Amino acid sequence: MNLWRNSSSHPGWPVPAGALRVAAGVVTLRPVRLRDGAQWSRTRLADRAQLEPWEPSNGVDWEARHAVTSWPSVCSGLRSEARKGRMLPYVIEVDGQFTGQLTIGNVTHGALRSAWIGYWVTTSATGGGVATAALALGVDHCFGAVRLHRVEATVRPENTASRRVLAKVGFREEGLLKRYLEVDGAWRDHLLVAITIEELNGSVSSALVRQGQATWS
Ligand code: ACO
Repeated sequence: MNLWRNSSSHPGWPVPAGALRVAAGVVTLRPVRLRDGAQWSRTRLADRAQLEPWEPSNGVDWEARHAVTSWPSVCSGLRSEARKGRMLPYVIEVDGQFTGQLTIGNVTHGALRSAWIGYWVTTSATGGGVATAALALGVDHCFGAVRLHRVEATVRPENTASRRVLAKVGFREEGLLKRYLEVDGAWRDHLLVAITIEELNGSVSSALVRQGQATWS
């Protein structure tokens, strides 16, 4: 076993991130775990109408895909990708409670040092600044411990709430990807947005604090 390669190929993992206080409570990020299954399944099934229009299809029916029995293989797949240094799959917690997920994927080092980021928040907690705080913590983690240079995201033009979250954190639009992703039964256009480390003024979290949108916790 090559210990040097294992310890250096996934910087920043499995390190938790936080904490920021927003209207909804104290937001933190921590690695997904096997015992998240019941809450993950309950929330994803209950929030289907709010989540399905924005999430990639995988050919499996929503109910079956989010059965509690599906979580062990979903979770171990995410953690396996994390061990290989390709992904950082986090749970978003508010006041210590499961409130959604934030995933950093396609992590690439070398001359690219880039990744994509995506997230969802349970309907019962939306509108309280949770996604904004979680995204800020995730981006700061990417530019800090993970040592990336660029973070990008894709979002459907119709997803006004998520576009607002991305804008508040400082992502800028780079273009429209035509028929980019199969979502909700069709190939959907997506906006490509990105931020690079040069665009930060300190950190994203400290900018939110300066703007009065969050406080340190
Ligand atoms: N039109 C315009 N703005 C809106 C709308 C709307 N219909 N709905 C909400 N907003 C605004 C809010 O007013 C707020 O902005 P403000 O602070 O300036 O008032 C912002 O959008 C939401 O900010 P937060 O409260 O931080 O976000 P929240 O915790 O509510 O989560 C999210 C937003 C993640 C989009 C949530 O609704 C969700 O999980 N939706 C379903 C899944 C999803 O769309 N995920 C994102 C996919 S794209 C990606 O991952 C890059």
